[in-house]
Amino acid sequence: MREHEQYADFESEFDHADDLRWQVKKAKKASARPDGGVEPTRRGRLTEEAKDRLTQMRDDSVAADVPPDGDRWSTWGDADQGPKPHPSWLITELSAVDRELGIVKTGKEADVFLVERVMPGTDRSCVMAAKRYRSNDHRLFHRDAGYLEGRRMRRSREMRAMANRSAFGRNLIAERWAVAEFAALTTLWQLGAPVPYPVQRDGTELLLEFVGTDGSAAPRLAQLRPEPDELEGLWRQLVDALSLMASVGLGHGDLSAFNLMVHEGRLVVIDLPQVVDLVANPRGPEFLERDVRNVADWFTARGLAPELAEPREITEMLLDLAGLR
Ligand SMILES: Nc1ncnc2c1ncn2[C@@H]1O[C@H](COP(=O)(O)OP(=O)(O)O)[C@@H](O)[C@H]1O
Ligand SMILES: [Mg+2]
Repeated sequence: MREHEQYADFESEFDHADDLRWQVKKAKKASARPDGGVEPTRRGRLTEEAKDRLTQMRDDSVAADVPPDGDRWSTWGDADQGPKPHPSWLITELSAVDRELGIVKTGKEADVFLVERVMPGTDRSCVMAAKRYRSNDHRLFHRDAGYLEGRRMRRSREMRAMANRSAFGRNLIAERWAVAEFAALTTLWQLGAPVPYPVQRDGTELLLEFVGTDGSAAPRLAQLRPEPDELEGLWRQLVDALSLMASVGLGHGDLSAFNLMVHEGRLVVIDLPQVVDLVANPRGPEFLERDVRNVADWFTARGLAPELAEPREITEMLLDLAGLR
């Protein structure tokens, strides 16, 4: 299948309402800019007129009360918000400020940053992981279009844009993954599965509960060499998490020791944009078996008794929970 045809098969979650919302947001952003939406260009030396305009823009930004040091106002009010009840650590006041503290990890399709949300004038703050999907090149997106089989299809202007790979289309693809991951995390969080709390989604950015301590991310399972007892405990936590997911018909779709974190002995499942609908996707059982095999191999290679992690048996058990056996 040619690549643009794969993308033409994408289900469009960007219906007309979304499109309108997007346009309104864009128009708001443009009119909020001091120059009324015209991108400033800088070529050569500044003319007097340009200098005056820059001074004026600076004054305007002070008047507009932009937080200092490149911080931004909390984006909570503009974003899709995470499920209720909101956790007590989360700052939901619109007057809060988001401060970028550094990068956690760069990836091929997304970068993860550490962001602190603070309430100015108080000692209240919370740290979050900001996962930002890149829109530069999703051609190499390793989560192939097979994941999308069985989802509702709809032809639309957005789908054509994605297929054409215009900048607009590439951004839609990135946003699409952010929407999918936010939805998966929301469902799983509400079920009580061990996933980071999904704070919000705004465009291509997700803010997530930060899994770690004092701004240091918890290790990925792949970095650990657990003792036998701990290894077995982590395996049981993983089978429980997969069982919970299967019971609502979901599989991870890209499960490995790199997409599992271990925080204070607790396993946390991350990286879920390609979550698989086990019932609707004709390749669901195949993806599930691959997930199970990946992690079972990792655990048995590190000493887990193979009879505890027999991939076929576990896959069958999960398919049974999903109502497919
Ligand atoms: N909620 C989180 N808290 C702390 N670190 C995170 C969180 N989510 C992701 N990370 C870190 O960022 C890395 C990449 O995140 P992931 O969701 O796996 O994206 P991808 O693999 O697509 O780049 C993870 O391996 C982990 O180290
Ligand atoms: Mg990952």
